[in-house]
Amino acid sequence: MNDASVAGTAKKITAIYPGSFDPITNGHLDLIARGSRLVDRLIVAILRNEAKQPLFSVEERAAMLEEVVKPYANVEVGTFHGLLVDYASERGANMILRGIRAISDYEYELQTALMNRRLQPRIETAFLMSGEAYSFISSRLVKEVAKLGGNISGLVPPLVEERLRSRFFERRGGA
Ligand code: PNS
Repeated sequence: MNDASVAGTAKKITAIYPGSFDPITNGHLDLIARGSRLVDRLIVAILRNEAKQPLFSVEERAAMLEEVVKPYANVEVGTFHGLLVDYASERGANMILRGIRAISDYEYELQTALMNRRLQPRIETAFLMSGEAYSFISSRLVKEVAKLGGNISGLVPPLVEERLRSRFFERRGGA
């Protein structure tokens, strides 16, 4: 099969990049940039998880995400609850995208990907390696450092840095 016929039969890829994004970090954004170059359409999907106590509401997280994905024409933001594979099917997605920062991420991601495949074999999970510069960044650590007054510049988009500062400042101010 030559290149032209491969291109002619290539399937369009709609990928879901799911997560908590509480808040979005530059590591997430790096993955979004990489993913958007690989797929036709990328839906960044925030889980509505009543069991977790997030710092930012789903609406606040979605608003921050909407802002930072503006430069990417094929990226949109959504929210979901329940099973990821059900949401992916509803949105016509044929791929789930997740990032692997370090080997410590692998075990959880492997289990989740295999469970998702069992639930919905039509949808493949693809893993992308985050850039080395972002491999230590997590939303949890960023929140901890911001809360303790540490420097988080370069770890999150400037708009998120601002939101984190004012969130913790307002809380202290109000206490
Ligand atoms: O950013 P996170 O917290 O690592 O994201 C985890 C997420 C949202 C991808 C995962 O918890 C998820 O997909 N939850 C939806 C529920 C579901 O489908 N569970 C079955 C898969 S094992």
